[in-house]
Amino acid sequence: MGSMLDLVTMHLRLHGIVKTERQTVPKHADLNGLAPALLDWFDRHGRDLPWRLALGERRDPYRVWLAEIMLQQTTIPHGTPYFLTFTKRWPTVDALAAAKDEDVMTAWAGLGYYARARNLLKCAREIAARGSWPETAAELKKLPGIGPYTAGAIAAIAFNQPAAAVDGNVDRVFARLLALKGVWAVEKKRLHAEVERLVPQDRPGDFAEALMDLGATVCTPTRPNCLICPISGFCRAKAEGSPERYPIKPAKKAKPIRHGIAYVAVHEGEVLLQRRPDKGLLGGMLGLPTSDWVEGEPNHPPPPFKGNWDEIGDVRHVFTHFDLRLRVLRADLPRRPAKAEGQWVPAKDVEGLPSVFAKAFRVAMK
Ligand code: ADE
Repeated sequence: MGSMLDLVTMHLRLHGIVKTERQTVPKHADLNGLAPALLDWFDRHGRDLPWRLALGERRDPYRVWLAEIMLQQTTIPHGTPYFLTFTKRWPTVDALAAAKDEDVMTAWAGLGYYARARNLLKCAREIAARGSWPETAAELKKLPGIGPYTAGAIAAIAFNQPAAAVDGNVDRVFARLLALKGVWAVEKKRLHAEVERLVPQDRPGDFAEALMDLGATVCTPTRPNCLICPISGFCRAKAEGSPERYPIKPAKKAKPIRHGIAYVAVHEGEVLLQRRPDKGLLGGMLGLPTSDWVEGEPNHPPPPFKGNWDEIGDVRHVFTHFDLRLRVLRADLPRRPAKAEGQWVPAKDVEGLPSVFAKAFRVAMK
């Protein structure tokens, strides 16, 4: 504001003589045309992904569920090969239910968030025992590993139920559409209600996947491409001019750094691995012996058993709630120590390690 013209405009706005920017963008009810525009775009530009089918085919709930669980915390490029491996090896929920726990954990290694794999098996076994899938979001939510988002996604995509599936992508798209400026925790509720209101009765699954595709390819976090967006005409943030500033969320807390040591014990070409307890971080997975992982100064605890331990290098790994710096120590042992619990595996056959241990193992064997 400053020029004479600005002052005149401000005066006219104050007195309701000209429209403000806010008034030129659609109001609540005007979003009713959004679903048709989005679905029309999805029909032409929706992504071709292995858990999707051609128009008119019925979706297999097993494949829909498996994809949704895998993609909960994983990108499509990273998750897709796992989806293909799993569906080839275990083509039905009954086949997966009958699998050995260890085989499934090994096949999941590298995908992260291993509680998902343990719940995957629990859920498969429940479905196999029941003989069929429940079809509503409310019933699906009672199954292991299925939260509100996943329940909505499966109900809509596999069973054509008018359910909403609101994940981080949809949060972003709608925070922009509605230009939500208030306290995020409150706005989020409004946003959910609005998505639910807009789910079209005839194509709820396509609506859910269209929003996922829009969030992933057009309404991206830092560089939304409004020029090609099929629903930009509905978008308040676009009208305001800076859609990328949404969603407005409270700042994240800085992650603490934990330090620890991984021990690679080698004896006659074999490496000592230990299966981790079911509960807790990387639960149920095969791993290297380690010290405790602690915040603050790096600690120097004694190794778990005697050996000529050499410091080989460091690896870093990002977990949800902390960053890990892991020192990697290796010892070539003349005999298997009596104190060493775990299984000795030929180094060339080592597989199924979570990424943090795979990195440490690679460093030690270089
Ligand atoms: N992310 C999670 N589920 C998805 C799906 N069904 N299609 C595309 N991206 C997804």
